[in-house]
Amino acid sequence: MRDLLAALTELRERLQEIPQADERRLSDLKTEILGRKAGALTQILAALPRLEPAARKQVGGAANALKRDYETAFAARERELKHAGDAGGAGAGVDLTMPGRARWVGGLHLVTQVVDEICEIFHELGFTRAVGPEIETERYNFYALNFPKDHPALDAQDSFYVGGDLLLRTHTSPVQIRTLESYPPPIRVVIPGKAYRRDPFDASHAPVFEQIEGLAVDDGISFVDFKATLATFARKFFAPDTRVRFRPSFFPFTEPSAEMDVQCRICQGAGCPTCKQTGWMEILGSGMVHPAVLENCGVDSEKYTGFAWGMGPERIAMTRHGIPDIRLLFESDVRFLAQFARGPR
Ligand code: DAH
Repeated sequence: MRDLLAALTELRERLQEIPQADERRLSDLKTEILGRKAGALTQILAALPRLEPAARKQVGGAANALKRDYETAFAARERELKHAGDAGGAGAGVDLTMPGRARWVGGLHLVTQVVDEICEIFHELGFTRAVGPEIETERYNFYALNFPKDHPALDAQDSFYVGGDLLLRTHTSPVQIRTLESYPPPIRVVIPGKAYRRDPFDASHAPVFEQIEGLAVDDGISFVDFKATLATFARKFFAPDTRVRFRPSFFPFTEPSAEMDVQCRICQGAGCPTCKQTGWMEILGSGMVHPAVLENCGVDSEKYTGFAWGMGPERIAMTRHGIPDIRLLFESDVRFLAQFARGPR
């Protein structure tokens, strides 16, 4: 047994040969030590059954530990030699201490992330995603939504007409009409999509932008449901202690109408350039669905009520991150976008 322990000690010292070995030497060493029949360590392990139980335990423990160390060392050296080969042979010119190259990681555009996040929050509140066409008729884009015939948005100065009474939709509200025409209440939908307006491309306007429309119609929906739903959204999206306020407003398709503001995230309401010193940021237009809109879609306005809203994900992204100019979201400068890079949710 003492011989066996001495042999193990000797073999342990020879581990040091491995990191220096070239490919040929490595393969010889492997045969010499771990070879199936004549390997030095193999033979020691083969001798174990002939030992007394106590000796077997001691020698066996040491021999098995050494075997694992050899296997690890062989594998590490093999890997090293293989990589040196990839880089031009015999380890030439490979600096193993050099920091690795950073790998390019893609991500979703900030606005896409915000759209997904908002839809996800409303999904938790029971809303389904819907979509509609970007080229609309005047009926869907305006009249069914209770716009008067002489509304300025109907002017070619304000909207992109593509011929006849077809235009690029100026908001996602026409999908309210398409939904109301297609499905009976109860309805709960969120409708993300692009909208188009003849606006100058400046710090706060773009001729094409994202909107998310929302619509809930059912028997017994009240103003309380409306306020609570949108305030819940704001707290889930911004922060649990986010303050919101509703200001009276006007839209042809809602009555009453309101705009919702959230307390400015940048100055916490104290007033700063981002919120134009008001302490508040407007994030959406909304209201109780006008009975005329329901009737235009064949929905009984005596029985059903509802609320609707429209919001701009670009503006909401700007509010959240303090981005001063909407054009940054369209320029595709990856140095800017990489700050927000994140994969699909
Ligand atoms: N469509 C409006 C716009 O683009 C936004 C809006 C306001 C949508 C009120 C609504 C709403 O559904 O109820 O300015």
